[in-house]
Amino acid sequence: MTTSSPEGVGLGMPQLPPPDYPDDVRARLEADAREVIARYPDSRSALLPLLHLVQSEEGHVTRTGMRFCADVLALTTAEVTAVATFYSMYRRKPSGDYQVGVCTNTLCAVMGGDAIFEALQEHLGVGNGETTDDGKVTLEHIECNAACDFAPVVMVNWEFFDNQTPGSAKRLVDDLRSGAPVEPTRGAPLCTFKETARILAGFPDERPGAVDATGGAGPASLIGLRLAKGEAPPARVVHPRAGGPEGTQPHDPSPSEHLSSHDAPQKTSASDPAHPAGPTAEEGE
Ligand code: FES
Repeated sequence: MTTSSPEGVGLGMPQLPPPDYPDDVRARLEADAREVIARYPDSRSALLPLLHLVQSEEGHVTRTGMRFCADVLALTTAEVTAVATFYSMYRRKPSGDYQVGVCTNTLCAVMGGDAIFEALQEHLGVGNGETTDDGKVTLEHIECNAACDFAPVVMVNWEFFDNQTPGSAKRLVDDLRSGAPVEPTRGAPLCTFKETARILAGFPDERPGAVDATGGAGPASLIGLRLAKGEAPPARVVHPRAGGPEGTQPHDPSPSEHLSSHDAPQKTSASDPAHPAGPTAEEGE
């Protein structure tokens, strides 16, 4: 083991072993770990959920947590570290109660994701991967979450907030920081990052109604499915707020909702309805 940078990357100097958990915490985690390990024919297969488990204890994967995983799975700390540093869902430093991830992959970016990220950076006074002083919000870029038909998408602790704009995203983080009620657009109710990590470790979400909440596919996704089945495509895809199929009402979110129209005021391709894909440049321009 070597000394670590703030991101936990070894720099070459010998490092003392990490401290162990307090006895009561270790006993509790060991009982949880036995339950997780029992689900797998090969114990090492339980590493990913166990990393979520230790993340649920401290809010990020510490050296102590990695050592714990190595101990209970009879792995080396090097093997555990290699996995923990590979996946972006494992945090390597203290972070906020709410991880606010702005999708800045291609589709969300051109639909306003880049503008949302810039607006939140300025509004919160933090950069990518940084946490607000009150410890509530950690802002970060995230990759495509397979919700492109709801672009631009923001995720809070991996729950969806669809069709966002800079304005709605700023209201969202303000509510998270003030403790005002916040409801994801779809899926289970929001909980803290530590609670989310425990659910991802495979423990039941016992909040009333959480399991029944669903996040169904959007209209554009279902059109793709219909096309794949050889059915005829519709004449065009209509955004819910622009008016749905005959007999349905356009969605008209109230100001308190975190849903929002594509009213991105920033200078992005999304702000110019005449050029939704943005300007193109010839090679070399
Ligand atoms: S590009 Fe953002 S969800 Fe797919």
